[in-house]
This record gives sequence, C-alpha cells and structure tokens, in this order.
Amino acid sequence: MAKLSKVVFLWKVLSIPLATAYPQLQNEFKQRAVKPSEIKGSYDYVIIGGGQSGLVVANRLSEDPKVSVLVVEYGYFDDSYDVLDIQKVFRDTTHTKYNLTSVPQTQLGEANQVQSVPAAAVVGGGSAINGMFFNRGAADDYDNWEKLGNPGWGFNGLLPYFIKSTTLQIPDAAFAKEFNATWDEKVYGKNGPIQASIYPVQYPALKSVWTGFEELGAERQKSGDDGNAHGLFWATRSIDDRTRTRSYARTGYYAPVAERKNLDLLTGWRVNTITFDKKKQATGINMQSRDSITDAKAKITSIKARKEVILAAGALHTPQILQRSGVGPASLLQKANVPLVIDLPGVGANMQDHPQVTMIVALLPLSLVSPANYTSLAKSYLSQSSAAYLPASYSAATLKAGYAKQQKLLGSSLLRKDNAALEMPFAGNGGYYLLMLTKPVSRGTININTSNPYAEPLVDFNTFGNPADLAIAMEAFKFGRVLHNTKTISSTFHPVELAPGAQVASEKDLEKAARDTVVSTTAHLSGTASLMPRELGGVVDTELKVYGVKGVRVVDASVMPLIPGAHLCSTVYAVAEKAADLIKGRK
Ligand SMILES: Cc1cc2nc3c(=O)[nH]c(=O)nc-3n(C[C@H](O)[C@H](O)[C@H](O)COP(=O)(O)OP(=O)(O)OC[C@H]3O[C@@H](n4cnc5c(N)ncnc54)[C@H](O)[C@@H]3O)c2cc1C
Ligand SMILES: *[C@@H]1O[C@H](CO)[C@@H](O)[C@H](O)[C@H]1NC(C)=O
Ligand SMILES: *[C@@H]1O[C@H](CO)[C@@H](O)[C@H](O)[C@H]1NC(C)=O
Ligand SMILES: *[C@@H]1O[C@H](CO)[C@@H](O)[C@H](O)[C@H]1NC(C)=O
Ligand SMILES: *[C@@H]1O[C@H](CO)[C@@H](O)[C@H](O)[C@H]1NC(C)=O
Repeated sequence: MAKLSKVVFLWKVLSIPLATAYPQLQNEFKQRAVKPSEIKGSYDYVIIGGGQSGLVVANRLSEDPKVSVLVVEYGYFDDSYDVLDIQKVFRDTTHTKYNLTSVPQTQLGEANQVQSVPAAAVVGGGSAINGMFFNRGAADDYDNWEKLGNPGWGFNGLLPYFIKSTTLQIPDAAFAKEFNATWDEKVYGKNGPIQASIYPVQYPALKSVWTGFEELGAERQKSGDDGNAHGLFWATRSIDDRTRTRSYARTGYYAPVAERKNLDLLTGWRVNTITFDKKKQATGINMQSRDSITDAKAKITSIKARKEVILAAGALHTPQILQRSGVGPASLLQKANVPLVIDLPGVGANMQDHPQVTMIVALLPLSLVSPANYTSLAKSYLSQSSAAYLPASYSAATLKAGYAKQQKLLGSSLLRKDNAALEMPFAGNGGYYLLMLTKPVSRGTININTSNPYAEPLVDFNTFGNPADLAIAMEAFKFGRVLHNTKTISSTFHPVELAPGAQVASEKDLEKAARDTVVSTTAHLSGTASLMPRELGGVVDTELKVYGVKGVRVVDASVMPLIPGAHLCSTVYAVAEKAADLIKGRK
C-alpha cells in the first residue's frame, strides 16, 4: 500500500511541471461529457465513435448552432499528461485500447500466427495513442482511389482537406540549415487544428544514413506531403513544437468547442445497432452503458437521429456495427441470426494494413528496392488470376470485380518510380530497419462473431495470403543488406546484422524468416467499408453514403479503398474534413 501511494505521489509531482510550465495545456483537457440523464431523445446527427474522425465531424457539424449533434464513445476521456508527453509514445495504453487478437494467420510461422490487433478506445481514438508519425501517401495512391470510380477523391480532391486540417510549424533556420531539412509550405494550412512539425532534435548520424540511401539512387524530395512521397524526405509529426506535446483530435478538434451547447459527447457507452424503418431509412441507434455490457438484461437506450447516423467507429468496429444492424453479407448475417436489411458483401471485406518485417525512412520505389527483379515481381503479380488469393469468403462477384480492378492499379503503381513499395523510417539513432510494405496486395476480413455478434469481431489480416507480398518482404530484407553495405554506411557504422542474421541467406531461409517474424499490422486497419462503386464490392458512394439504405454515412478509415503508402492519421483527418463538407452539402 505504501509503495502504491508513493508511485501515485511521484506521478503527481512529475506531472505538475509540465502543466505549470505551460498553463495553456490545462485547456487541452477541457471537456463537457454529458451524463446519461442529460441526453436528449433525439438529435439531428448521431455520431458513433468519438475517436479521431468522429471528433472532426462533430466539430464541423456543430459549427452551425441550429444543428444538434450527439457523439457516443465507448472509451473515456484520458486526462493524464502522459497523453500529451511526446516522450511517452511507448507508455502502457492497455486501458485505452480494445483487447483482441486476430484469427490464426495460416501463411505465417507457427509461433507467429496469432497477431495482436491494436485499436484505440478513448476520446480522440487512434490519434490519442498513436506514434505521431504524420505523413501522406503519394499522389498516385489517392489518384488510384479516383480511378476505382470515385470522382473527387484523387490527390487534388483531398489536398484542400489536408491543408484545412493542419498548421505547419516552420523549423528553426539553423536546424534546417544543419540538416538540410526542407518542406513545402503550400500543402499545409496556417490555422488548421492539427500542428505538424519537424522534430528539431536529430542525431548527427542521420546524415550518413541519408547519404547511404543516396548512393543507391534514392532521390531527395523537397517534401513527401505534396504528392511526392517517394525517395528521401523529411516527414512531419503531429507535435506542437511550442510545447513539445501531442497534437491530436481532442486538442485540435474537441477542446476548442467543448462548450458548444449543441454538441453532446457521451463516454463509456457502446452503440449496439443502427435502427431502420421499413423503408430502410435510418431512424437512430440503440446503445448500452459500457459497464452493463456483461449483464444480459442491462437497459438499452434508443436515440433518434432526425437527419443522419454517422459511423466513425474505426475500421475494426464500423463493419461490426453495420453487420450487427443487418447491413452486410447475407450469408454471414443469416448464420448470426441477424435480420437482413441489405445484402452488402463488401462490409468487412477489403481489409488492409501494412505488414512489417524488421532487421535488427525513406520511401522506396520497388525499382530501387529490387532493381534486378522488380519488373518480374510486378508482372508476376499482374499475371495472377485476380481471384486466386482472395479469402474464401469473397464469393460475391462484386468483390472479385473490385479486386480485379485494384490489381491492375496496384500492379502499375509497383512499377512506378514515383511511388513507393517499402517504407524505411530512419532517425540516425537506429541499429535496426523497420521495413513496412506500403502496397499490400493481400486482402483480409473483419466479421462479426456469429455465435455472439457483441463479442469482438473476427479479424483476419490474411497476411501473405497473396505470395506477392511475401516476395516483396524478401526483397526488402535483401535491400536492407545492400543498404548497410553501401560505402558510407559500412564505413561509418560498420554494421553487423543480428537479425535475421547473415547466415539467413538462401531464398528458403529468407522466406522462413519473413513468415516467422512479420508483424501483420502497423495499426493501420482500413478498407472495411470501402468507397467504391457497389458493383465493385463498395460499401459507400462518393458522398460516403452506405448503399441500399438511407441516412447512414461512414467517415473513418474504413472508407479507404486502397491503403495509402503512409501512416493513416493525416489521411483520416483529410477524409473526415471532406466528409463534413459533404454532409453539410458543400461539395
Ligand atoms: C497504437 C497505434 C499507433 C498508431 N501510430 C500511428 C502513427 O504513428 N501515425 C499515423 O499516422 N497513424 C498511426 N496510427 C493509425 C491512426 O491513428 C488511425 O488510423 C486513426 O486514428 C483511425 O481513426 P478512425 O477515426 O478511423 O478510428 P479511431 O480513431 O480508432 O476511432 C474509433 C472510435 O470509435 C469507438 N467505438 C468503436 N466501436 C464503438 C461502439 N460500438 N460504440 C461507441 N464507440 C465505439 C472507439 O472506442 C474509438 O474511439 C496508429 C494507430 C494505433 C492504434
Ligand atoms: C485480454 O484478453 C485476454 C484473453 O481473453 C485476457 O487473458 C486478458 O486478461 C485481457 N487483458 C485485459 C487487460 O483485459
Ligand atoms: C545538403 O544538400 C546539399 C545539396 O543538396 C549537399 O551538398 C550537402 O552535402 C547536404 N548536407 C547535408 C548535411 O546533408
Ligand atoms: C532476384 O531474385 C533472385 C531469386 O529469384 C535472387 O537470387 C536475387 O538475389 C534477386 N536479386 C536481387 C537484386 O534482389
Ligand atoms: C465468439 O463468441 C463466443 C461467445 O462469446 C466465444 O466463446 C468464442 O470464443 C468467440 N469466437 C471467436 C473465434 O472469437
């Protein structure tokens, strides 16, 4: 007991200096969570999920004082200063995350088959617990969204929203000069809610790593955020450099408007289902207090949505809520005894994440990763029968047609020299390379548990389900070796490969190393309620409205039809900003 109170005491002492040094930090924790008894019976808009995208849309819709908005969030406010402290990226976030693992990944090594599924459960969502890496995909990534049949969703259609959501903090001139740091001011806002900065404390060894990449032909870009996310560039982080604290959806989008009387945020409640009338018009939601979930008889509260129900529950739970409400693959819903509202096979399909292998950044076109083999890799992927490696549940013709179209686009992106197949972040402090595959071609699924739709959904990343991903991961290992054998890196650092280790040299051994060590996720779950035409297995149209029903939109990472070659946070802000304009009827 004595020990415990000492820990608590120390924590308090340590947290005071941060708050007193920056009194404005107190404002970041502003909140006005409504009590369940204060909730009204109906709102114009009910937003499911007060995570990253949910808070963006809540802010924008409640700008109009005549419009009423309710946000229902399963998590709670986290007022610990650790949330803001940028040194605490790797703090224990067990209490602000869901607790689940994937189904066994049959293509992976035996001990590596069950993968963890990181997903936030806290006001601010992923933006409250993420690594604050804040970059965008290449223009080609978003242009592929448009080419899938989504006018207005290419890079040029999203750029105004990348700008609207951000403020660039210009780095110190002496620092920029010393490290050659460059950026492109035009592609960020001046008053956007989320602060983007280049971290001004860098290791001098960074310069040698940079030169090593250049020896291999990687090209310097002025910025990666202006569509040129390939080669070498400085990535921003979502950090307010004035206070050296996390800039996230709560501080940027919620705290400044917490006092609005037309915006209610309820925490600690779970939305069970969206309710529909006979004409398939959404009428509202059913929800339950989080504490009462284990009690079968716990009270269920219904709230009416006069205009729309907006799904912002993240790529993990948005498909689960739709399926639970009767919107999803008919055969699955039948097994789960959920009455069908509309058969939409794409709900929970098209799941993508970035798998990563590690050897104990730069964004690299495949032509640079594997100059000898990249054309044959891309061609062999393009010549696959498009349905060959899709999950067994992809029986609907629409899903197959959608993937066939994605295959053509991804195959040509893999051949381009201005788009990347591999991300290698580097900071000059590292003895290891993180090798993140930016163009995964395998497709996974997220489906309700048919014996209990209220249990966590079944997550199947299907990592390496398509052998082309495995082949690229193996080329990534080889590239890591080529990189540490460059003149500059070998003579500066004299690296010794500890993992997988120089003895792992044959194709067979490299394959085993990839299967045994790959991590299925970079916490970038996406695609499970895709923005694509319905005949291609899509779930939402270009206004983010769910097909076949009225009054439901999706605004979170679920809508990304192809995962961009970047950490997702900045794209989630841009998508949610665009969503808010669409909902307001300002296109
Ligand atoms: C650990 C981690 C590290 C990451 N690192 C980075 C990084 O460094 N850089 C980067 O760019 N991206 C990173 N990401 C990814 C990025 O943060 C996410 O893609 C993004 O935040 C997702 O936003 P979202 O709005 O789609 O979902 P979320 O922000 O996850 O919001 C969904 C919200 O809905 C709530 N919810 C779910 N179901 C229900 C229900 N039934 N009822 C009520 N509420 C519900 C959840 O509790 C959650 O708060 C990371 C993510 C995680 C989890
Ligand atoms: C997470 O789930 C596992 C398995 O169901 C359980 O053993 C563990 O205690 C849970 N952890 C937390 C923090 O709830
Ligand atoms: C900065 O860039 C110039 C040319 O672009 C190069 O000559 C110089 O070596 C670079 N300096 C560092 C520290 O990278
Ligand atoms: C190309 O692939 C072959 C095996 O098919 C492999 O032996 C070789 O190392 C690869 N080349 C490069 C440059 O990665
Ligand atoms: C599905 O839910 C049931 C009941 O809660 C549980 O026993 C079972 O383990 C779950 N199945 C999976 C695959 O998680």
